[in-house]
This record gives sequence, C-alpha cells and structure tokens, in this order.
Amino acid sequence: MKSEILQNTIQKLFAKDKGILAADESVGSINKRFEALAIDQTVENRLAFRKTLITTPDLHNYISGVIFHDETFRQEIEAGKTFAQYCEEHNIIPGIKVDEGLTDFPNFPDEKITIGIDSLRVRFEEYFNLGARFCKWRVVVDVKVSSDEIIELNLRNLAIYASLAQEAGIVPIIEPEVMYDGDHTIDECREKMSSVLTHLFGDLALYRVDLKNVILKTAMVLSGKKSIVKAENDEIANDTSHILFSTVPENIGGVVFLSGGQTPTESTLNLSKIMQHGPYKFPITYSYSRALQDPVLEAFSKKTDIEMTQKIFIDRLEMNTLALEGKYTLENETGLSSLVSNVTHSQDL
Ligand code: G3H
Repeated sequence: MKSEILQNTIQKLFAKDKGILAADESVGSINKRFEALAIDQTVENRLAFRKTLITTPDLHNYISGVIFHDETFRQEIEAGKTFAQYCEEHNIIPGIKVDEGLTDFPNFPDEKITIGIDSLRVRFEEYFNLGARFCKWRVVVDVKVSSDEIIELNLRNLAIYASLAQEAGIVPIIEPEVMYDGDHTIDECREKMSSVLTHLFGDLALYRVDLKNVILKTAMVLSGKKSIVKAENDEIANDTSHILFSTVPENIGGVVFLSGGQTPTESTLNLSKIMQHGPYKFPITYSYSRALQDPVLEAFSKKTDIEMTQKIFIDRLEMNTLALEGKYTLENETGLSSLVSNVTHSQDL
C-alpha cells in the first residue's frame, strides 16, 4: 500500500517535461536574498513572494512538485487554504524539506553535519497528514574540506531519513550536495562526487531502502566557483553524465539536479547538454531554487506587477523545458528571465 503511494508520487513527479521547484529556503537563507535586494525580511514578504510563484497561471504545465519549508507549509495561500491544498487542487505535488539545517561538529572545524533525525518519525506523520507526498534532506560536501568521517556520518543519516520517509508514505529526495563553492578543479569535483555517490548507494542498500522509491538530488560536476580553470559546458555535461552512468543504480526512482549557484542560463545550458548524453535508464529532471527564482525575485524586489513577474517565471520554466529535451541553446533566451543582477547566490551553509 505504502509502496503504491510512493510509486504513484514518483510517476507524477517525473511527468514528461516537468521540473520540481525548490522553494524550501530556510528563513535565514531567503532573508539573505531579500536583504541583497533591499526587500524587507518579514514573514509577510516571504509569504507574498512564495504566493507569487505558486499562483503563476499554468504552473502545473511546467512544474510537477514544489518543495516547501515548514514555515510556508503551515501558511495559508488564501483564506482557508494551505499551500499544500492549493497545490493538490492544481495538480502539483506538495513536498517538504525536513532536515533542520546544518551545524558545526566538534573537532572537525569548517565542516557541517545536517541535523533533525531524532524528531523525524513524528514529524513525518504530521507532514503526511498535512499533505506532503515527498520530502528533502540535504547534506553538504565541500570538495576540498570535507573529511571521510563527516561524509560517512551525513550519508548514514541520509539513509536513515530515507527509510523513515518511506515508512510514512513520503518519497525521499536524498541530496548530498557537492558544493560549487571552492577553488577545486572539475577533476577533483568528479572524483569526490563519484566517491560520495558510491558510498551513499552502499548505505542505502545496507539500510534496505527501496531504491525505486527514492530520488537523488545532485549537483552537476563543475569546477569550483573560484577555480582558476573554469570547466567548459561540454566537459561539465560529459563528466556529469559519466557520473550518472557509473554510480547511480538503474532502478532508482529518478534523479534531479540542483543549480548550486550557477546562473539561470548556465544551469539551463548544462542541463540541456547533459540530457543530450541520454537516454538514461532512470528519469531525470531539474529541481532548482536560485536558477528559477532569482529573476522572479529581482522583479518582485522592483515591485513589478504580478502578471509580468509571473511571466518572467514562466519564461525561465520554458527554457528549462527545452533543456529537458536537450534542445536549449542561448539563442532561445528572450531576455525576460536571463539577466540577473545584484542577487546573492547564498544557500544554507
Ligand atoms: O538544496 C538545494 C536546493 O534544493 C536547490 O537550490 O538550485 O539554488 O542550488 P539551488
């Protein structure tokens, strides 16, 4: 029964040509983005911005699911209707970020562990009743800094989280984010990612997680943001597709990409090129936050009227739909959603 619920969710999330919107930034994280654009950091503005995204007409033609943060999940999008209920009515699956963020760990300076496991079983029950059908847990890996010990601990928790999510009938997105931040080369990124994913799938097997009901959320293989040798798009696509073929088991539910701090156009172009390396044995789509939201947030900060703001969002989504088919080039850009200025690319660290 639970397995059927999970499979049904996976099928819907990977509906052809649709992506998953990550709108699950923590309060601190979205406030940082607001601050950079001189938007007041209030609960009302967070609600208004997310409402702008979710009420975009025809959103369901592009987006199969939305990952929310706990704050949004408990807010009403309109009187008497939660975001989750609104999404369900509009053929979009509501999801929830369930990790409780990153924290330091004694004796491992500059490293982070993801917390929130202890209360998870109880929270999952509540989130299921509130309508959540998929969820996300993110751990971070710094290519040069992360130690084997902390990686192991974080990956073990991802496997435990995935088991508990499936028990609750909620599809787990497991996200070991190999970060773009840093000055590493693309080769160093590829090696780290390969080792992390191999280890992760070992842990999932160890804890008997049902792989067909799991979604992997991964970064692309990139040279670090501060690397002196910047990898070309073709190399990125080649290395990323190689990682997918060599480390991801064929029976996984699916794979989604995060944007990781790439610009909207970079992430769309790289996705398109990665798709050209297919077919893959599992479904693939995007699950971006910044690369979808930055142009929309900028319009929101300028108090652009809502129709135009939502048009910008649709424009970005259309570019990514082309990318899913491997058909996107920079010439496709209309200029509506490709130019982003003054936006910080901050994510929870
Ligand atoms: O955890 C990361 C988010 O779900 C994706 O965010 O696309 O801005 O990297 P991003």
